[in-house]
Amino acid sequence: MLLKITVLSGDGIGPEVTEQAVLVLRSVAGVSGHQLELQHKPIGGAALKACNDPLPADTISACLSSSAVLLGAVGSPAFDHNPGHLRPEAGLLRLRRELGAFANLRPAILFSALEDCSPLRPDLVRGTDMLIVRELLGGAYFGQPRSIEGIAGSRVAINTMRYGEDEIDRVARVAFELARKRRRKVLSVDKANVLECSRLWREVVTRVARDYPEVNLGHQYIDSAAMLLVQRPTEFDVILTENMFGDILSDQAGGVVGSLGLLASASIGGQVGLYEPVHGSAPDIAGKGIANPLGAILSVAMMLRYSFQLDGEAACIENAVSATLSQGARTADLARKAHPAISTSEIGRRVLEAVQASAPATA
Ligand code: IPM
Ligand code: MG
Repeated sequence: MLLKITVLSGDGIGPEVTEQAVLVLRSVAGVSGHQLELQHKPIGGAALKACNDPLPADTISACLSSSAVLLGAVGSPAFDHNPGHLRPEAGLLRLRRELGAFANLRPAILFSALEDCSPLRPDLVRGTDMLIVRELLGGAYFGQPRSIEGIAGSRVAINTMRYGEDEIDRVARVAFELARKRRRKVLSVDKANVLECSRLWREVVTRVARDYPEVNLGHQYIDSAAMLLVQRPTEFDVILTENMFGDILSDQAGGVVGSLGLLASASIGGQVGLYEPVHGSAPDIAGKGIANPLGAILSVAMMLRYSFQLDGEAACIENAVSATLSQGARTADLARKAHPAISTSEIGRRVLEAVQASAPATA
């Protein structure tokens, strides 16, 4: 198979973790006999520096003409005082929209080797395996109008949370379809006691659920869901929620399973899927060679599964990551006395070794 992929390494630790993810991708493609065609393009702060646009037209067209996009991270304090449309994050939001990637899948799984890395007691967190399905193109992230207006001292800021029935319906279907292949539970998270958007959300999700009688649907307010996520994380299967709630809950889920650095994501629904680790650009540790590349590496696994239906190859990467952790390899975010930290490239090399030791059945 020809795997035509655009790589956007972006800012901060983006390039370091993406480099390891690409090495693993090359190795899996190699052992499975797939042909790789990679092109690298700028996004975020890197693109702002180069051409004062966080998402240059050339980057968009490269993404749209490939089969999948692998992204590192965007965000840099150098642009904190730029107007909204000239911030690195604006490039990522526009990319998601250009790709039509409305469903963002963020699995949070506790690797058995990492029970002692969670801030929660091992008996509480053992067996945690949830999938957050975050709506990615609506809500306050994209709603109009938005502005800061007025004179200094009495300015007013406005954001608009907006959802159409069609937007809720399509992402709900993704969540129910995925739940069918898992433990058949969907928890829809909203704030229906306060927000109109959430009341419509709940109504539409309940309606969609009638098409999936085998899936058990529950509803929870976001505040109480946040509490339950740390009290009883193992009870969650699929969490379906709107854009901003999903952004927040997914970082929390990263904390629960030991480190945000482990979390991968797939943004699907359009012609071209977008794959990125959930962690951001982490400017404080950028360039030090200590970032955790496993979220980026696991994002490659999600790419193989969702964009190319290469389940065997995806599992090969996931098993390699799990084996590497079981052997005690840890980056700084996960290091303990018994398992001192190794570098970004060293853990990448260990995953690569594990991949090569267990070529998939399709090889
Ligand atoms: C994420 C990030 C982004 C988001 C930022 C960088 C715009 O936090 O992917 O979770 O809020 O969606
Ligand atoms: Mg986030």
